[in-house]
Amino acid sequence: MTQIHSKEPARVVLAALPTPVVELPRLAQHVGCDRLLMKRDDLTGIELSGNKVRKLEYLLAEAVEQGCDTIITNGGHQSNHCRATAAACARLGLRLRLILRGPAEGAAPLVGNLLLDQLFGAEFSLHAPAEYAARRDALIQAAIEQETRAGHRPYHFPVGGSVPLGSWGYIRLVAELLTQIPTNSLLDIYVAVSSSGTLAGLIVGCALLRASHIRVVGVPVSDSLELLRPDVSQLVAATVHKYDLGIDPAGLPIEMHTGFIGDGYAIPTPQGQDALRTVGRLEGIALDPTYTAKAMAGFLDAVKTGKIRSGATAMFIHTGGIFGLLARPTL
Ligand SMILES: Cc1ncc(COP(=O)(O)O)c(C=O)c1O
Repeated sequence: MTQIHSKEPARVVLAALPTPVVELPRLAQHVGCDRLLMKRDDLTGIELSGNKVRKLEYLLAEAVEQGCDTIITNGGHQSNHCRATAAACARLGLRLRLILRGPAEGAAPLVGNLLLDQLFGAEFSLHAPAEYAARRDALIQAAIEQETRAGHRPYHFPVGGSVPLGSWGYIRLVAELLTQIPTNSLLDIYVAVSSSGTLAGLIVGCALLRASHIRVVGVPVSDSLELLRPDVSQLVAATVHKYDLGIDPAGLPIEMHTGFIGDGYAIPTPQGQDALRTVGRLEGIALDPTYTAKAMAGFLDAVKTGKIRSGATAMFIHTGGIFGLLARPTL
């Protein structure tokens, strides 16, 4: 697909797009509805799998355009965003420094995403959760200054790539969906929300591309609604304003289906693990305990409790995360 809109910034092709839309017949039968769909954004690649890749296509294009040679970003030690960035940087010949929040237990085992960060040649530092919470911005700033002093040209983006430029990744997904799904039928889409960029991009994308038949609902997996709603609305507004998209951000719906976080980010929940096992057993598709299993629990709950609009088809966006499942092999 070529440019999706006249305001779309430059992008570098990293993801295998379009990702497939598949039927989930056995899961639909299990929950007692006619039809369920899944957009397989876990299949954007293998090393470059999941939702982060779509955002990286724009962020890394800008980095290269600005002549930067070193990327600096941050996240948890099992961050999918950091692993995808590491694979993309290796592919594009860019250096990468990762500022990682370590596990509460102390040492981080070299498994899952962290193993891949190392394999792809990223340089990383691990910080205890308390230090990371208190000094994250100072650690990032220090890394930027250190790289600059060493003669490199650093480019930084925050956890999840959730900045206005990254929003274009999921504006593009809406454009993709418009070629995959008939535009005369209602579609209710559910997706995991953490750093907010995926949901914000989808909301802007539906308005920008006039996809009024699509409704988007986020399922928070890490932070409460009180924290997330302002994040999403700020990112939506910042994206609209930065690219002068001619939309009134105040009029855009921000919908969330809550109650699926459990005890906190990356702590599996019984409902999420049940959804993970059910989807695995019935459809042969792997979710992950941190993001997609909790979001799937929310999606199935919405289907079962009649939250899907009358006449609409329900779709789940699978945003990836398999390496997180393999790093924490509990069912
Ligand atoms: C697998 C997976 N799904 C969903 C999300 C949430 O996306 P976002 O951070 O854009 O809200 C993330 C990242 O945080 C992720 O790694």
